[in-house]
Amino acid sequence: MGRLPLLLLWGLPHIWGSSEAPPGAFPLRCLQISSFGNSSWSRTDGSTWLGEMRIHTWSHDSDTIRFLRPWARGRFTDKQWERLQQLFRVYRSSFSRDVQEFVKLVQTDYPFEIQLAGGCEVHPGSTPESFIHVAFQGSDIMGFRGTAWVAAPDAPQWVGKILQVLNHDLGTRATVQWLLNETCPQFTRGILEAGKSELEKQVKPEAWLTGAPIPGSDHLLLVCHVSGFYPKPAWAMWMLGGQEQPAQQGDMLPNTDGTWYLRVTLDVAAGQAAGLTCHVKHSSLGDQDIILHWEGRHTSTAGTVLGLLVLLLLIGGGLAFWLRNRCFYQDLL
Ligand SMILES: *[C@@H]1O[C@H](CO)[C@@H](O)[C@H](O)[C@H]1NC(C)=O
Repeated sequence: MGRLPLLLLWGLPHIWGSSEAPPGAFPLRCLQISSFGNSSWSRTDGSTWLGEMRIHTWSHDSDTIRFLRPWARGRFTDKQWERLQQLFRVYRSSFSRDVQEFVKLVQTDYPFEIQLAGGCEVHPGSTPESFIHVAFQGSDIMGFRGTAWVAAPDAPQWVGKILQVLNHDLGTRATVQWLLNETCPQFTRGILEAGKSELEKQVKPEAWLTGAPIPGSDHLLLVCHVSGFYPKPAWAMWMLGGQEQPAQQGDMLPNTDGTWYLRVTLDVAAGQAAGLTCHVKHSSLGDQDIILHWEGRHTSTAGTVLGLLVLLLLIGGGLAFWLRNRCFYQDLL
């Protein structure tokens, strides 16, 4: 069950890192998550991300890569893709087998989870940077540097035994170097070109305010919602008379259409809400910030009824989702 949250936690530092990168920088990252339940049960799922956009998935029950964008094949030919898919098929089955061998070697216990992140970043005019990191139960244990596997700082001692075996396998080391030094940068250059118009698109946010009394106090919880923008970096703040107010920044959440959602929450004494404004900045707006004025009308009955309806729908949806997943996970056991 911890699979998705772990993936998110793991991906977020990279995602945030890249939102500060200069425009046009889209690192390519392949993420793999493998769960090992016992000596005969495991599953492996993968996805590829270009910046903050997911472009491929590779599901446990499928034998082929799914392309999530029309340009996700980049400039690779069908033949090049066939070669890669073939390589991944072999990799996937040998990965589970090797891990099961390593378990015997270092005498660790099931169940556990292994995550891999590999990819590269290409910048015009400088050499591409490529990487592979491996994590065991959420902590970094090793990576590939130059021509060989190396232990991560603070990796447990048993990692040394695995490195010895891995570094003995010259064929795999050569393949990894080929993937990192050539395939990844070449693919990334092609896909940046093929997806250019979508990657560099600008979509303006919509913004609105909601507010509700905080039960048991005379305070209001005001929320400034910003939704539907692309690319990801956006700023929203509550202001009063030119002063930024100490508000709580929510996480950036993805909408299903690839755009983003952000909200900023302010806890304010009911008598002090007059004159508050929410300011929204986003690259699509140029220097025309969106400015919304809190007018205190948003807690009206109509708003409350609507809010309740939305809440009920959300709870209903969440319950259905939970039930479905529960069945799904039960099927797996
Ligand atoms: C791949 O790149 C690394 C440095 O990033 C280098 O040490 C290694 O020799 C290269 N391997 C091949 C096969 O080009």
